[in-house]
Amino acid sequence: MSHLITGATGSIGRHIVDQLVALGEDVRALTRKPTAANLPSQVTIFGGDLTSGDIQDGAFHGVKSLFLFPADGDIKPFLDKVKAAGVERVILLSSLAAAAEHARDIGSASYLHHKAIEQIVLASDIPYTFLRPGNFANNLQFWAYSIKTAGAVYGPYPQSAQTLIHAADVATVAVAALTTVGHIGATYALTGPESLTQTEQLRTIGAEIGRELTYQIISPEQFRQSMSAFMPEDIITQLLNYWSDTVEQPDVVRPTVEQVTGKPARTLAQWAADHRAMFM
Ligand SMILES: NC(=O)c1ccc[n+]([C@@H]2O[C@H](COP(=O)([O-])OP(=O)(O)OC[C@H]3O[C@@H](n4cnc5c(N)ncnc54)[C@H](OP(=O)(O)O)[C@@H]3O)[C@@H](O)[C@H]2O)c1
Repeated sequence: MSHLITGATGSIGRHIVDQLVALGEDVRALTRKPTAANLPSQVTIFGGDLTSGDIQDGAFHGVKSLFLFPADGDIKPFLDKVKAAGVERVILLSSLAAAAEHARDIGSASYLHHKAIEQIVLASDIPYTFLRPGNFANNLQFWAYSIKTAGAVYGPYPQSAQTLIHAADVATVAVAALTTVGHIGATYALTGPESLTQTEQLRTIGAEIGRELTYQIISPEQFRQSMSAFMPEDIITQLLNYWSDTVEQPDVVRPTVEQVTGKPARTLAQWAADHRAMFM
């Protein structure tokens, strides 16, 4: 039995592939750029685009479980092929925003995108597991340049607190759902193991690289202007709403990673150790 991993060249997908290979599982990977995939030699690589439904022949042969990356665009033609191929379960990378636990989620870019993909998976009638991670620790990569060049980050909400999750933990939950029973129909809200303010997050990175870093406060409007060349407007709005809300109401830690995998979720200190090179 094979597992087909879409998004296999992405941050979550690479961890999934590595963990499945380490377990000795038969892994297939889908990518739009097979020659640039740079995946382990044990993986069989197939070309394909999730949104055109144009998939290299043989990609589904013997595939019983699929990890589905929530690509932008219409994934229904792809899921029709998944269903026709007899794939028995789909593990979808969704988002905690799809749970609409907060007023800020309703109508946000992340809610609209992930809710729509969840609906398409539900309508396909293929047995599913939904992974709904909160904020990724990998999002802190966007601090790397100013940390390296100025020993500082610039943001409006130093006291807003998030439960950042390591990509490897999202992957470990995905691998459990791909390879073991008891996950069909489950929707897993996933977070890291601690709620840390942005000041504490910065201090964690500083401790890892042995450097005192400063959090420079700018106004939300200054943040919007400084990011407008790099991020769509709706994503900037989503971020600002999220950070301002989590000053008064910090993100809540969920126990799901440990419940599903049997291991505690990785701390931000662990993430910083795994990514120290990008901040040096
Ligand atoms: N950032 C957060 O805090 C957060 C929180 C909750 C959920 N999420 C979800 O997690 C996602 C990011 O995951 P990630 O970090 O693993 O992504 P990533 O590193 O940006 O990688 C994206 C992957 O998706 C594949 N892909 C994209 N469009 C495709 C298409 N049309 N057809 C085939 N493959 C396609 C790419 O493959 P190729 O380029 O090789 O084709 C690549 O492997 C977000 O987009 C969001 O949906 C994020």
